[in-house]
Amino acid sequence: MVIAGFAGVVAISIAASAPQQQEPPKLKNLKVLPKNIPFRELDHIMDTWAGSLGVHCNFCHARDAQTNKMDFASDAKPEKTAARHMFVMMSKINKKYFEGKKDSLGMVMASSVNCYTCHRGSAHPEVKLPERQRGPGGPPPAGTPPPPPPGQ
Ligand code: HEC
Ligand code: HEC
Repeated sequence: MVIAGFAGVVAISIAASAPQQQEPPKLKNLKVLPKNIPFRELDHIMDTWAGSLGVHCNFCHARDAQTNKMDFASDAKPEKTAARHMFVMMSKINKKYFEGKKDSLGMVMASSVNCYTCHRGSAHPEVKLPERQRGPGGPPPAGTPPPPPPGQ
């Protein structure tokens, strides 16, 4: 009953957002994700990446200056390249240290380490310090400038 209701809501919202039935866009520039990935799955991964870093699509993707539309295939933004490196790193960690299995598309499953494991909603996890610090690696001496604010 609940599931049927939910499916109904999804169907309605899809219908509302896409008045005419459209072909999913062709994926033109995949270098680390499987080239045969279904569009829905890619879309889901993109939502997960954006959510894990607490950013919008335009953090990694550039807008076409002429059409003013998002050009998702463009590699103009260095953040997109960084994300590719991150994905490769994450796959290696999962494969080597967590015996990550491959899914049906040949992608190493992010069952142990994923973007959110490190990022926790921030594009710059490296500037976050533990709240409690002890011993030699303890709090910085008084007068040390604070770390740069997250986000930039
Ligand atoms: C953290 C960076 C990042 C964010 C945020 C992000 N993307 Fe991506 N996106 C990428 C990378 C990297 C690729 C290329 C993957 C590859 O090379 O296999 C990509 C590829 C794509 C593609 C395929 C383009 C093509 O034709 O090759 C689409 C479509 C896309 N993203 C849509 C989105 C949407 C929509 C959002 C927002 C919900 C989004 N992306 C958010 C990094 C990101
Ligand atoms: C093992 C921890 C870890 C994992 C897993 C991880 N990241 Fe990162 N990521 C970092 C750290 C740390 C930085 C900052 C590195 C630096 O600036 O030198 C970073 C930086 C980035 C940046 C660059 C931000 C900028 O403004 O330049 C992007 C984009 C990014 N990560 C995307 C991703 C995506 C997408 C995933 C998942 C596929 C991911 N990361 C998984 C730790 C991680």
